[in-house]
Parts: sequence; structure tokens; C-alpha cells
Amino acid sequence: MSAANRGDRGAEPRPLALARPLVDAVFLANPYPTYRALREAGPIHWSEEFFGGAWLLTRHADVELVLRDPRFSAQRTGTWVKGREGAPGELSGFQQLFARALLFLDAPDHPRIRKVLNAGFRPDILQGLAPHIEQVVTELLDRVDQVEHLDTFDFIEAVARPLPVRVITLLLGIERPQEDFMAWSEDLASFIGEPRPSRDQARRAQASLVAMSRYFESLLALKRQTPGDDLVSRLVAAEARGEIHDGAELLAQCAMLLFAGHETTRHLLGSGVQALLAHPAQWQRLQREPELLPGAVRELLRFDSPVQYTGRRVATDLVLHGQQLRRGELVLPLIGAASRDPARYRDPDTLDITRGQGASLAFGSGPHVCMGAALTLMEAQMVFWQLLKRWPGLSLADAAPRWGDKPAYRGLVALPLRSRASA
Ligand code: HEM
Repeated sequence: MSAANRGDRGAEPRPLALARPLVDAVFLANPYPTYRALREAGPIHWSEEFFGGAWLLTRHADVELVLRDPRFSAQRTGTWVKGREGAPGELSGFQQLFARALLFLDAPDHPRIRKVLNAGFRPDILQGLAPHIEQVVTELLDRVDQVEHLDTFDFIEAVARPLPVRVITLLLGIERPQEDFMAWSEDLASFIGEPRPSRDQARRAQASLVAMSRYFESLLALKRQTPGDDLVSRLVAAEARGEIHDGAELLAQCAMLLFAGHETTRHLLGSGVQALLAHPAQWQRLQREPELLPGAVRELLRFDSPVQYTGRRVATDLVLHGQQLRRGELVLPLIGAASRDPARYRDPDTLDITRGQGASLAFGSGPHVCMGAALTLMEAQMVFWQLLKRWPGLSLADAAPRWGDKPAYRGLVALPLRSRASA
């Protein structure tokens, strides 16, 4: 049992009733029974398994509280370098740069930078991108149709993996996406999404961030000379106005944007299609009533949240559910557990595209709520709509889904589908 009672602080949490480590193959295949057991054992647990020690929160109300309450700080990148004596300096550049990204900042830096970035996600800008995104979706699906000899295709490789990076590059104003973008983002995600990253994962993340920075430095130089109506040009203009403080702060936002919407969106598309096809009545209902699509995407985000947990640091000593939380300790609000909390959702383990119980915490909440949410919803709706129209008989070619190995980012590594069988 790796999640344990923390006996050194006077106040006594109830011990966990789990007889195995939290993260193992069973958990990665289906974390929800474990979340339920944790939630039923108590709202808060101490686990040594995550970053050398963290509080786990299991209830929807507590997860929301931590995301919204300034007593919990977003500055948490220190855990990446803490206790890494074996790798001196290896990660300090990585940590120093990424620590300046919006996701890891508190006020006053956070609202200053968020305001700059927000301008790039305005509804009129997203509307302007819509036809281009639609075109990329069509192009990717056409490619599947053109491979006549294929009986099945891997939806992740054909659509869910390439699409998000194409969309982000449209948003950032990158004309020629680099082959390496996906690999760089994956290296960052595999480090950030890992409770105990290996030395090799750390090295690769650092190398990819260096490569990413080099790429963005030349892009920024280009945008300084020839600005466009894109997010990177907005960041450059904000730097000139003093709203972005220096080149490193600028680079940090670019790297974060490239990474933030990549793995997450892939997982929404992959897990979403899988869930709908595993519940054929819901798939057929969507075909009959496509107006249910926006609510369906929200439900898919709740049912299998791509981001299963995020992190915060305790900014000031406080007591939560009888536990003494000390300044500096790490807290992991378990979004995946909150999304299945029966105190918040009726029948939480049932996929119901007509649920209509409001937005889940899949995009977070409070000051750091996902900036890409509207873009993601638009993109996902386009994909599901095209799939429903193009391949009404779409079906799973393999009943046993293959889930990835990162507990923070839940998603499929492959999703073999049959497009033509009954089309
Ligand atoms: C299914 C897709 C996505 C999911 C599930 C998702 C989820 C999240 C979550 C949970 C947070 C809050 C993290 C926290 O509070 O610690 C967040 C923040 C953020 N997301 Fe997303 N995201 C998605 C797609 C995107 C996309 C496409 C972009 C951009 C192109 C994006 C950009 C961001 C940014 C910039 C933040 C940081 C906001 C801040 O710190 O103020 N996300 N996202």
C-alpha cells in the first residue's frame, strides 16, 4: 500500500483501504473503481507515490475548491527538480523556463499574461479558424477513405494524434508545422504526466524543450519582422508594450501552448469515439439528433477526463477535513474522481449524452480554467459530426481498448475502427 496514513503531524487521517499501489496496470486500464474506493474511504489521503508525497482529494466539491481558492498556489514546478541529486542541473533549465508558463503562475503575473493570451482566443478569432479546422478534419478523414484496401484503421494515428497539432499551429500562426512538434509535446507530457519521472524521461523532456525553444526563437524573430493576426504575433506585440516582461517569459508561453492542447485533445477524441461506439444506443441517438452533440462532448469529457489530476501547492497552513495541510505541501485535485462523484452526478458511471448537469471540471475551474476550452469543443464537435455523417456504421475493431501509461493524462494509444462494414 503506497498511499498511507501520514502519522507525523498530530491530526490523523483515516487509513486507505487499498491493498495495492494506486497506479498500476489495473488502475491505468480503469481508474474509476480505485477512485470510488478512495472516495468512500475518505475525502483526503496522503500518498508517497506522487512526487515524493502529496495530498489526494477525491470529492467534486473539494477539487473545485482547490482550483478556485488562492490558498492553493499554482507554482508547483519545484517538484520536478526536488530530490534529483543524481541529475545535477539536468532539469534546472527546463524547470526555470516552464515555471514562467501561465499554468504555473499566481497573481499578479497570472492575470497579466492571461489577459494577453485571452485576446488570441476571442470568439471572432475562433470563428475565423473554423473553416480551416473543418478543412483539416476533412483532409484527415479523406485520407482514411482513400486507403481502399484497409478494412480497419487506427483512429488515433489517422485523426486524433495529427489533428490537435495542426489546429494549434493554425492558432499560433505557424505556416509549416514541423515533424518534431508531436514528439516534443509527447516528451513534455510524458515527463509532466508521470508521478515519478525516470531520469531518461527527464532528459528527453529537457532536450525537447531546448529544441522547442530554438524553434520558437526563430519564429519569434520572424513575427517581429512580419507580424500577423495570430497568437504568437500578439505575444510579440505584448512584449513590445511591456505586458510580457522578457524573451524567456514569451518562450515559456509558446512552449506551453504547443504542449497544452496536444495530448489532451487527442485523448478527448480517442476516448470519446471509443465511449460512443462502446455504447451504440448513444451513438445512434446522436445520429438521429445531432443537436445533442454539444452536450454529448461535455458528457464525454466528464465520463473519461483527459486530464485526470492537476496540482497545487498549499500557500498557507490550513486544515481540510481535519487534516493539517502545511505551506509548501503538494495537493492533487483528482479531476477524474470528481467527475464520477455521486454527490455531484446522478448515476456517475453511466454515459448519458442527455445528462445536462452542467460543465464538469474536465477543463479545470477558477483562474486557471482551460483557455482552449471553446476551441476544443468546436474541434471535437466537427470531428464527431463528420464521423456520424460519413461513417454511420462505424464500429470498434477491437473490443479491448489499449490505454496509455500516464495517470495524469488518460487516453488511448490505439483505437482500431471499421469505417465501412455497414456504411
Ligand atoms: C480536451 C482538451 C483539453 C483539456 C481536457 C484541457 C484541460 C485543461 C485543464 C484541466 C486546465 C487547468 C489546469 C489547472 O488548473 O491546473 C487547462 C488549462 C489550460 N489549457 Fe487546456 N485543455 C484542453 C485543451 C486545450 C487547448 C486546445 C489549449 C490551447 C490551444 C489549451 C490551453 C490551456 C491553457 C493555456 C491553460 C492554462 C490556463 C491558465 O493557467 O490560466 N487547452 N486545460
